[in-house]
Amino acid sequence: MCGIVGYIGPRCATDVIMDGLRRLEYRGYDSAGLALVPRAGGQVHVIKRQGEIETGLQRGLQEDPPRFSGAGIGHTRWATHGPPSDDNAHPHTDCTGSLAVVHNGIIENYFELGQALREEGHKFRSEVDTEVIPHLVETHRDAGADLLEATMEAVRNLRGAYALAVVESGKGDDGEALVGVRRESPLIVGVGEDEYFLASDIAAVLPYTRNVVILENGDFALLTRNGYAIFDESGQEVERPVEVVDWDAEDAERGGHPHFMIKEILEQPAAWVAALQGRIGDDTVYLPELEYTTGIVDRLSQVYLVGCGTSYHAALAARPQFERMLGIPARAEIASEFRYADPALGTDSLVVFVSQSGETADTLACLDLAKQADAPTLGITNVVGSSLSRGVDDVVFTRAGPEISVASTKTYTTQLLILDLIAGHLGTTRGMREENAQRMRAVLAHAPDLPGEAERLLDDQEAVLGVAGYLAPWEDAFFIGRGLDFAAAMEGQLKLKEISYIHAEACAAGELKHGTLALIEQDIPVIAISTQDHLREKMASNVEEVRARGGWICLVTDRPEDRTAAIADAVIPIPRTAEVLSPVLVALALQLLAYHTAVMRGCPVDKPRNLAKSVTVE
Ligand code: G6P
Repeated sequence: MCGIVGYIGPRCATDVIMDGLRRLEYRGYDSAGLALVPRAGGQVHVIKRQGEIETGLQRGLQEDPPRFSGAGIGHTRWATHGPPSDDNAHPHTDCTGSLAVVHNGIIENYFELGQALREEGHKFRSEVDTEVIPHLVETHRDAGADLLEATMEAVRNLRGAYALAVVESGKGDDGEALVGVRRESPLIVGVGEDEYFLASDIAAVLPYTRNVVILENGDFALLTRNGYAIFDESGQEVERPVEVVDWDAEDAERGGHPHFMIKEILEQPAAWVAALQGRIGDDTVYLPELEYTTGIVDRLSQVYLVGCGTSYHAALAARPQFERMLGIPARAEIASEFRYADPALGTDSLVVFVSQSGETADTLACLDLAKQADAPTLGITNVVGSSLSRGVDDVVFTRAGPEISVASTKTYTTQLLILDLIAGHLGTTRGMREENAQRMRAVLAHAPDLPGEAERLLDDQEAVLGVAGYLAPWEDAFFIGRGLDFAAAMEGQLKLKEISYIHAEACAAGELKHGTLALIEQDIPVIAISTQDHLREKMASNVEEVRARGGWICLVTDRPEDRTAAIADAVIPIPRTAEVLSPVLVALALQLLAYHTAVMRGCPVDKPRNLAKSVTVE
């Protein structure tokens, strides 16, 4: 998500931090800022601007040139709370301006904390969750704690997953100090000669040092001119190994991976944790973002789920869940079709827009259409401040972090999760049949386990690699499935064709015999997906149909012990979860399959020919 850089040492901190921020540019950002400590003490000098580093923050430095400083922190922001603006950019300071904080992640209980701090007289200047932190640290600092203790105390009050860097101007003989905190979000300490760094990514410190300490969850780091020390959650000083990194700068941007796509595939467990954080508990969905939609949900008589490409496939997978949970017809629509289809929209039609970028021209055109019809609108997007997020009545963010690779991976699976939560929440508000309430409870019970299950799947890629090896020389491949597995097949074929250039198509398994079966010849690869219990026997028959024509079958299944798996040529096992959630795990397996196949074929994985990440033209 956001990028963090901190420095203390003999160099000009402004130069080191600006350089580090530029190296984090690939993460995407909407604003950037830094806080520098004057050697003489007093207020920290904060400069922050909305926009790109070159046009925003760099200009800010020219307008408001800082004095030489040897200690400071910097941040590139990728908004989660509050739209991009100068005020919402980090760093954020306490009331006196003598300490500043940058933050990556989400503080779930910021609202309550902010209220309490305001009542105590603290003055807030932004809309972001981060701002409670400097005020909390200030409270403990005022009570006599040093910066490290005050930060430890402050952090005890915070709920959420985050990484922090705190800087304070020297007080008396203390000199300047930087404190880093790691809670789920990554943070490292760079160890140079008489100089020390804090960073969210190794990329930021590589020109200065290759010696890094990877902080563990719960760790605090204290950096001064004299050295650094690490403390665990309980405040006990601990030793952490210094690792020597041999990556070059480009490797570092991709976290040491050869492509952004695989980095983003592997980031999914963490992205799911972020997407679900604070949103489920006690058999209940918490989505205060749905304030408007919740108020009108009783008057709805139909739901449209609209998107393009991968986002359309998320809509396809969510459609049955919306129909069941709300008890009214739900349709998945391709935005470029829907906009010209003269749909019968009215005030009783909820239109749900799914778009990772929030900028896709066709999707935004459909939003205009819905607004003209006075239909209630709901957006699901990954980009805070995007056109979609600003135009809809309610918006829920997927919190997947920036996605660089053209082929969507983590934004898709987080869309699936969020759509399931929304369907559950709206269904509960309207009131649903007991069998559906049970389904929802199963989703809520299993969703928190998904990241762990995904880790298992990602740790053992042998089966996927074997299938990729078989697929790589082919120019055609087929994906078949029924129900939710058909939606998963649609996304699987898109992933494969867009990055490996293999012609791939998905077919609803029951439709095979109406045409596609004519193309099944000896050894042609067919990926069959089977995760839905009530459709398992039907799928088994479809697999037999393919087998009888000599097709080569790879079965993607959560029941690798079944008879159908025994007759398949290859099996990709996926962990068993609530049926509604299985497309999330199937997606992971099929993303890996597409990725490895494309790599074996020597394709430019992150930038497939003729395609773009965000399609802002019709
Ligand atoms: C492009 C991207 C896809 C994406 C689609 C819709 O084709 O390459 O990854 O699924 O646009 O984009 P959106 O931002 O609306 O989800």
